[in-house]
Amino acid sequence: DGEWIKVGSVADIDEDDTYPVEIDGRRVCLYNLGGEIFATDGTCTHGDADLSLGMVVDSCLIECPLHEGTFDIRSGRAVGAPCTEPLRCHPVKVEQGVIFLRPA
Ligand code: FES
Repeated sequence: DGEWIKVGSVADIDEDDTYPVEIDGRRVCLYNLGGEIFATDGTCTHGDADLSLGMVVDSCLIECPLHEGTFDIRSGRAVGAPCTEPLRCHPVKVEQGVIFLRPA
């Protein structure tokens, strides 16, 4: 397993908002769902779209800005067409308001 990497602070991410980070040149997206932090790959599995530019809908889905496909942020499951490939999720932990992520 990889190391925990400090990626930001909870205070930076509004509720139901996205927050892009780059880890080893890879696009990752953080989310704040009702105060709980999640992380997924930041690029859609359907095409080269930056999910941090998408919208959080239904409290737990990220809607891709390009073709409006959706993924469950908590599991990475592809929920709405045209997305079929799941999104990779990354474990996160919060310590004193600081977000750490371990690349999956
Ligand atoms: Fe994301 Fe097509 S690129 S739905």
